[in-house]
Amino acid sequence: MKSTLSYIQKNKKRFLEELFALIRIPSISADPAYAGEMQKAAEKVEMLLQESGCTHTQIYATAGYPVVYGSCLVDPKLPTVLVYGHYDVQPPDPLDLWDNDPFDPIVKKIKTHPEGAIFARGACDDKGQFFMHLKALEVMLKTDGLPCNVKFMIEGEEEVGSDNLEAFVREHTDLLSNDVILISDTGMLANDTPSITTGLRGLSYMEVEVTGPNRDLHSGLYGGAVANPINILTQMIASLHDKNNHVTIPGFYDKVEVLENADRKEIEKIPFSLSAYKAALDIEDIHGEEGYSTLERKSIRPTLDVNGIWGGYTGEGAKTVIPSKAFAKISMRLVPNQDWKKISQLFADHFKAIAPKSVKVKVTEHHGGQGYVMPTSGVEFQAASQAYEKTFGKPPIAVRDGGSIPIVALFEETLGSKTVLMGFGLDSDAIHSPNEHFGVFNFLKGIETIPEFHKAFANLKKG
Ligand code: BES
Ligand code: MN
Ligand code: MN
Repeated sequence: MKSTLSYIQKNKKRFLEELFALIRIPSISADPAYAGEMQKAAEKVEMLLQESGCTHTQIYATAGYPVVYGSCLVDPKLPTVLVYGHYDVQPPDPLDLWDNDPFDPIVKKIKTHPEGAIFARGACDDKGQFFMHLKALEVMLKTDGLPCNVKFMIEGEEEVGSDNLEAFVREHTDLLSNDVILISDTGMLANDTPSITTGLRGLSYMEVEVTGPNRDLHSGLYGGAVANPINILTQMIASLHDKNNHVTIPGFYDKVEVLENADRKEIEKIPFSLSAYKAALDIEDIHGEEGYSTLERKSIRPTLDVNGIWGGYTGEGAKTVIPSKAFAKISMRLVPNQDWKKISQLFADHFKAIAPKSVKVKVTEHHGGQGYVMPTSGVEFQAASQAYEKTFGKPPIAVRDGGSIPIVALFEETLGSKTVLMGFGLDSDAIHSPNEHFGVFNFLKGIETIPEFHKAFANLKKG
């Protein structure tokens, strides 16, 4: 323990510099213009894996962006931990809302991070977080040695739905075989309140196109007499929730698990301040499904949200027009047991069914994935719990998160192993937003806690 801490202290400046070099590569998976940078980032990750002590590394081409693999296998009798992460990042825009260049990281002290935070796209999601595992490997190799075998699979398409990862995992089950999967790509409650993510929501992401007349029309000559696809689309969208904010799609809630009162009581115990929540977002009031608390609404309940809507004239000044088309991107966060493909189908059927004859509707499916819950009774959770207790001095709280990492459910299906989500980000770290950041404290605490997980897991597996 002592030597781990002193190794981290001695090397933290270099750790940060290495991370910054990775962050400086703008690996934006959503934008084809950055394909070259994606390749550079994959090569950089491979180099960092080697420098951190992996004895074998390889970049695997896929139909999309490459998967980077690395391993340090010390003894076939020891358990194997597979670390997953992603080197791709979200687009940084809107650029003018950033206080620094999103791909030129700086460390700044802020209220939530008095020790300083790294400001850059990918600092928290997920470069800063998966890089902790590389440095944890280095720390273990340079101090007490490895208590387990370690494998890494770092992909480049998480932010765009991991379309090619399923095939990769199915084709490489031997290469990826493991006793547990470890991921740092989620959050924790607060720097003095450690938590382990025990659930993720699933996702179904759809796009709709509503067509009215076959061309844009003068809104004086035609207004009132033909369907305006924007008016229709917004009416249709509004009808997707009832007055209690339940989703109205028939069958949407069919598979949704009803939580026992005891489980809901556990959620109530999670430290959460509604007034601080409202203040941080500058909102007068919250909004959501009747009958559920804010914490429940954002973790154990499914939702439907419009992520984007466009059509008609949005340029300077005014233009009196009835557009021919209107569009929206609509996604649903799902809970375990809701099958995302089934939900996508229910959405498509319903959306077409509610369209008036005056318009034509096209519904397309983007990506999706299953939700996930992990038991707190297994060795996986216990090992993580012991690790946090060691480094934070208190046991972690189990929290189901609202975000999605679709590959996690697939890991369980294809590799038969549980995933432990040891995230060190804070909700306030602005992932996917301008001024994304990751606390230096969180980064170093992660590097300190991860080796403890490996030790505890190896120990629990032994006995
Ligand atoms: N790391 C996030 C997911 C996350 C963040 C889960 C915080 C829980 C807490 C991941 O990179 C992400 O953004 N996932 C996407 C889904 C994906 C299919 C685009 C999401 O949740 O929107
Ligand atoms: Mn992520
Ligand atoms: Mn993300």
